[in-house]
Amino acid sequence: MRKTVYSLLASAFIVSAAGLAAVAQEDVVQHGAQVFMDVGCWQCHGTVGQGGAGPALLPNLHPEEVLATFVRQGTIGGMPPYTHAVLSNEDLHAIYAYLKSLPAPGTPELLQGE
Ligand code: HEC
Repeated sequence: MRKTVYSLLASAFIVSAAGLAAVAQEDVVQHGAQVFMDVGCWQCHGTVGQGGAGPALLPNLHPEEVLATFVRQGTIGGMPPYTHAVLSNEDLHAIYAYLKSLPAPGTPELLQGE
């Protein structure tokens, strides 16, 4: 009986820890969306990374380190460098989490406007 109680308690703990992690990740994604708008990435890359004056960032999203290098250094083709003063590492990571959470352009999910 005692064993059952312990294992019930343990599984309740595991379930709530997983729930918390999911909520935290959702927060990061939402924060990333906000930063993407605030620092103006959307003006060149579109609000959902679909591209505009700048190239589409999806569906072939670069690995995070590569994306970070582009953002920190800027590009000769017109992308300004974003220094730590205007964009912290946490914010940059959140942008990445946001982009990663987006469906690739043209997938049924996006076409249905979800
Ligand atoms: C003023 C326009 C502009 C803004 C603002 C801008 N970019 Fe860019 N970005 C570009 C252009 C243009 C390129 C393509 C490289 C080039 O021609 O210079 C590019 C390239 C990139 C690339 C590489 C894409 C590839 O595969 O070539 C990434 C990743 C990227 N931008 C992410 C971002 C993020 C994240 C932000 C916001 C922090 C941002 N950009 C803000 C214009 C912009």
